Amino acid sequence: MGEAFEAVVARARERATPDEEERALLDGVVATVLERAEEAITTMSVDADVLQVGSTARDTWVSGDRDIDVFVRFPLDLDRPILERYGLAVGREVLPDGREEYAEHPYVTGELREVSVDLVPCYRVESATAIRSAVDRTPFHTQYLDRRLDEELAADIRAAKSFLTGIDAYGSDLRTEGFSGYLAELLLCEYGSFAALIEAAADWSPPLRLDPESHGEGSFEDPLVVIDPTDPERNVAAVLSGTQLARFQHYARELLATPRDSLFEPTSPDPLSAAATGEEIAARGTTPIVLRFSIPDLVDDQLYPQLRKSSAGIERALEERGFRVFRRETFATKLADDNDSENDDEGRTAVLLFELAVADLPNVERHEGPPVSVREHAQRFYEAYAEADATGPFVEDGQYVVERPREFTSARDFLASDALFGAALGVDVETALDAGYDLLVGAEVADLASAFGTELARYFSPKA
Ligand code: UTP
Ligand code: MN
Repeated sequence: MGEAFEAVVARARERATPDEEERALLDGVVATVLERAEEAITTMSVDADVLQVGSTARDTWVSGDRDIDVFVRFPLDLDRPILERYGLAVGREVLPDGREEYAEHPYVTGELREVSVDLVPCYRVESATAIRSAVDRTPFHTQYLDRRLDEELAADIRAAKSFLTGIDAYGSDLRTEGFSGYLAELLLCEYGSFAALIEAAADWSPPLRLDPESHGEGSFEDPLVVIDPTDPERNVAAVLSGTQLARFQHYARELLATPRDSLFEPTSPDPLSAAATGEEIAARGTTPIVLRFSIPDLVDDQLYPQLRKSSAGIERALEERGFRVFRRETFATKLADDNDSENDDEGRTAVLLFELAVADLPNVERHEGPPVSVREHAQRFYEAYAEADATGPFVEDGQYVVERPREFTSARDFLASDALFGAALGVDVETALDAGYDLLVGAEVADLASAFGTELARYFSPKA
C-alpha cells in the first residue's frame, strides 16, 4: 500500500473520530435517555429493560453524524398492541418533543440537546433466530460486535463509513440501497482493516458470499451475501443493490489508483438552470418526457420503491408500443418536516422522467404472425387479418406479417391516455396519477430546473 493511500486513510480516520468534547456531549445525552427510559418503565407493571445499541453503543459512529439508538426490551408474552403502546409511552417520556414513526412497529424519534435519538420497543428473545420482528435482532448485533471490535478497528470502521458516505453508498434505506452500518462493521471484521477491505473489493467478482460464523445455510440470490453471524437466515447485505456494490468497487479502485480526501466527502453538483437544461436537451437531440405529480407524505422507504416500480412499468409499456427508452430516472422532493407545518398537506412532488430516442412513430406497426407451416394457427391468423384494416397479411421468411394501424403514434399521447394505467404502477403512485399529473415534453422539461436543478445536473453529467 502506497504512502499517499496511507496518508489519506489516516486523515479520514482523524476526521471521523469524535473528539473529547463531542464524546462528552454524547455520553451526557445517552445518560439522560437511559435514565428517563428506566424511570418510565418502573411506572409500568411490566418486566422491561433498556439498552443502548447501534454505532454509538459500539463507538463506531462518525463524528458529526450522531444518532443514539436505544431499545426497550419487553417480555415475549406481551401482546404486540400492548408492546406498541408501552413503547410509545416510554418514547414520549424520554422525548417529549419527539414524533412517532413507523418501521416494523411504531417508535419515537426526536432530538435531545441537538443529538438525534431513536427509541425503539422490541421483544426480549432468546436468540436472533427467534425474532418476532427485524428489530429484535439488533441487540444481538451489539453483543456480537462488542467481542470483536477494538479501537483500531473502530477507527477503520469510521473511515469506511465516511468513504461510503462520500461515494453516496451509505445507508440501508430503500432510496440509497447501500451499505448499512452493521454491514460495514462486519466487512471490517472480516477483512481486518479498511485498506484490506478496499484492496479486496477492487478485485471482487460478484456474486460474493461471506459467512463469518460458518453457518453454511441459506441460499440467497443477492449480489453480495453476508450471512448474519447472529442469524443464519439473514443476509445483512439484502438491501444492497448490484449498482451500489459495483459503485463501491469502482471507487475502491479509484482510491487505490489516485488516493484523495475528496472521496470521503459527499459532493453535489451545481444545480442546472432552466436555460442550461434546455441546452442539454437540444444538444442530445433526444425527447425527454416527464410525468410530474404530487404524492402524499410517504417516507422514502415507501416512496422510492414505488417510484422505481412505476418507472420500470411505464418503461415496459412504452417499449411494448415501440418507444425505446434511452434512459430513465425518478426524482422526488424531500419529505416535509412534521414540525414545519406550513406546507403540511401539499405532499411531495414526484417526477418520472423517460428520455426517448424517438418519441413519434409511423401510423403503421409491424405485427408478426405464426409460420405458415403451423397450419391451424396460421390459418386463424390469416383469417383474422384478411378482412381487417391492415396491410397484408403477406409472407416473409416463411411467416405471416401484417402492418396494422398503430394505436399510439406519439409517446406523449400514450402517456396522456388512460392506457397508462395498464402499466404496472406502485399503489400510491397509481392513486396519485389518477388524481392528475403534468406532462412535460422535450424543452418543457426545463421547467423542472427550479425544484430539481441538482438532480438534472446529475442526470445530464452522470458519474460512476
Ligand atoms: P442505524 O441505522 O442507526 O445504524 O441502526 P448504526 O449501526 O447505528 O450506524 P450509524 O452510525 O448510526 O449510521 C441501528 C442498529 O439497527 C440494526 C443494526 O444493529 C444497527 O446497528 N440495523 C439497522 C440493521 O440490522 N439493519 C438495518 O438495515 C438497519
Ligand atoms: Mn445509529
